[in-house]
Amino acid sequence: MKKTIKDVDWKGVRALVRCDFNVPLDDELLITDDTRIRAALPTIEYLSEHGAKVILMSHLGRPKGEPKEEFSLAPVAVRLSDLLDKPIMFAASDDVVDEGVVDAIEKLEDGDIALLENLRFRKEEEKNDPEFSKALAGLGDVFVQEAFGTAHRAHASTAGVADYLPCVSGFLIEKEVKFLSEAVNTPERPFIAIMGGAKVADKILVIENLLNKVDTLIIGGGMMFTFYKAMGLEIGKSILDEEHVDVAAGLIKTAEEKGVKLLLPVDTVCASEFSNDAKTAVVDREAIPEDMMGMDIGPKSIELFTSAIKDAKTVVWNGPMGVFEMSKFAEGTKAIASALAESDCISVIGGGDSAAAIEQFGFADKVTHISTGGGASLEFLEGKDLPGIAVIQDK
Ligand code: 3PG
Repeated sequence: MKKTIKDVDWKGVRALVRCDFNVPLDDELLITDDTRIRAALPTIEYLSEHGAKVILMSHLGRPKGEPKEEFSLAPVAVRLSDLLDKPIMFAASDDVVDEGVVDAIEKLEDGDIALLENLRFRKEEEKNDPEFSKALAGLGDVFVQEAFGTAHRAHASTAGVADYLPCVSGFLIEKEVKFLSEAVNTPERPFIAIMGGAKVADKILVIENLLNKVDTLIIGGGMMFTFYKAMGLEIGKSILDEEHVDVAAGLIKTAEEKGVKLLLPVDTVCASEFSNDAKTAVVDREAIPEDMMGMDIGPKSIELFTSAIKDAKTVVWNGPMGVFEMSKFAEGTKAIASALAESDCISVIGGGDSAAAIEQFGFADKVTHISTGGGASLEFLEGKDLPGIAVIQDK
């Protein structure tokens, strides 16, 4: 068991909290999705209400070690203040930590909340530089790890700081680890994993790990065509991960050896070009026309997959079934999202595209857990130890 913020008496203590406020911004620097900010609110509120001086830190985007206005956390400070209905002291230094910031933090009263500038304005952050970790650590008494989305990075603020301060987890990390690890390690059965997305390469390690755990593996999305190729089928102009055809063949064999039921789409929605206005046709997987490309799973596959979901007790889903950003090719992904919403199984959605899809279709509050981590949830499902979680102290 890891220590959490509930294991600390916070009165007058400086809580240095690493969050993942890496939120999407539009051209006018307005936040278009504040899920990650909202996800950290219970921890921030708990710390403030229990008398801590709360110092929040995060990265935003990839400014590559230099201060850049478009990557400033200023919009996050404003949104946080709105959501918490409380002033946030934004320590707006391009150096992230300097004398001015140290002075400002010293003036915080119990319960006050401050936010540092984008950690990636300093190149030392991604290098996990010990001096930078030490400078950050100097701002707090206890390090609270709350950045699940960045827990797969061993950076100064996600891992290095823990060399200088005791580290406990926030509520979000606790929740993410609980749902992801319970689903994968002690699932109620039948346990199904649904993998989608374009490239086999991105999902090899996850599929390999999950083949040791699941009863059924469903494969959809662009990578299904690499599996088709491995089965000797013609795929027309569909996306192909040529280098990984052999890997796909190996995964099919491993599934067989391990007695895992592998469900691949039996039909596909094809298009004459990569466009929502393209001419479309629904064909069986043996009949993909030479001059067309597969863009989504077809109705027979939807039936096959959703009836498997009906019998499942645990489902982990990562990656869309088709090009769901285009309305004509969203049906497969929507059907999976809707089947999960209707089912009373434990449903855990890996972050990134599948999380975006479930939000887009309006089912977000009908599934058990949506991870706030894209890369982090993938690495977790691969069975890796995430550096940002490894540093949290045991009870
Ligand atoms: C994410 O959005 O996946 C995290 O914030 C990590 O961002 P990164 O891939 O730039 O490290």
